[in-house]
Amino acid sequence: MYNSKIIGLGKYLPDNVVTNDDLSNMMDTNDEWIQERTGIQERRWIEEGSEDTSAVMGAKAAKIAIERAGLTKDDIDFIVFATLSPDYYFPGCGVQIQDLLDMPTVGALDVRNQCSGFVYAISVADQFIKTGMYKNVLVIGAEYHSNGLDKTTRGRGVTVIFGDGAGACVLSREEDTTKGILSTHLHSEGKYADKLIVASPSIAHWVPEIIEAGEEDISYFPYMDGTFVFKHAVVRFSEVIMEGLIKNNLKKEDIDMLIPHQANLRIAQFIQKKFGLSDEQVFNNIMKYGNTTAASVVIALTEAWEQGKIKEGNHVVLAAFGSGFTWGSVIIKW
Ligand code: ACO
Repeated sequence: MYNSKIIGLGKYLPDNVVTNDDLSNMMDTNDEWIQERTGIQERRWIEEGSEDTSAVMGAKAAKIAIERAGLTKDDIDFIVFATLSPDYYFPGCGVQIQDLLDMPTVGALDVRNQCSGFVYAISVADQFIKTGMYKNVLVIGAEYHSNGLDKTTRGRGVTVIFGDGAGACVLSREEDTTKGILSTHLHSEGKYADKLIVASPSIAHWVPEIIEAGEEDISYFPYMDGTFVFKHAVVRFSEVIMEGLIKNNLKKEDIDMLIPHQANLRIAQFIQKKFGLSDEQVFNNIMKYGNTTAASVVIALTEAWEQGKIKEGNHVVLAAFGSGFTWGSVIIKW
């Protein structure tokens, strides 16, 4: 048995900054409401005409991660790609990475777990490495939300939250089993699927029916029962972080860096308070990027690492909650 270890991290954010004031020109919202409820000041939205998509942004982040790992694309044994906004209904974005990076014909797997997508993807990659099947696995989280949002007042509850972006990491074999990914913890509760959902187009409700219904049917836009999701998020985040600590005989004060999924600054602050963590022990960048769903944890992890906030031997905790509901945590000894 081996452990897996993150040896390279990369991120890519589109250049186009959309401020809260920009949004108030599109819909009935304002900077004060958005900042007070979510902490978000601005987000990146892919500009019209850009070549960027979830796969393209994922490939850009992956290139950086592979280079920082000191590897080449030919060293990668497997690709895991997490997104809720794939370029195609099928195939998934993972195979596009194999092509975009001109990689050997390695396997590629897509993970469909929304905001928990990166945590689930890391867990999948970790298992392949633990068993000895693969040595280097590329894990990507990327989202292109902006083209699929309702940018009118009708959609303001959801639209102001989401941003575009991508992050990637290379997970590699670690012989010392006291280091690297110590454990991963995954959960789901499908009875709440309709609380945060893009319901169609689906095979059961295909495009011609939606077109025929016209304005009556907006089931292709994300729907969220925000208050309901918020209440569950704070409980599940706490539970799953605690589960990881207990599994590894760690205490709250052993957390050197918590990287929560960037869903809402208020959720992260609630967790910080509950665990008695200082500002230095929790990393947030939702203020700049909004909620980038499957990309958020890996973008935040990359940025924390770039800023020198993660050091050798640190206990790093990743945690996420989102649509499904799904939630999970990853406990790492860096
Ligand atoms: N600007 C101005 N007013 C707004 C906006 C907006 N953008 N959006 C909603 N409002 C109004 C509403 O219409 C409502 O008005 P009313 O009281 O007159 O009816 C009022 O503000 C309050 O709306 P709520 O939806 O109740 O606001 P809430 O305080 O719940 O905040 C939020 C909304 C920020 C979305 C919050 O509920 C939240 O963060 N929820 C959790 C999000 C989350 O964790 N998601 C999981 C990850 S995402 C994923 O997995 C894809």
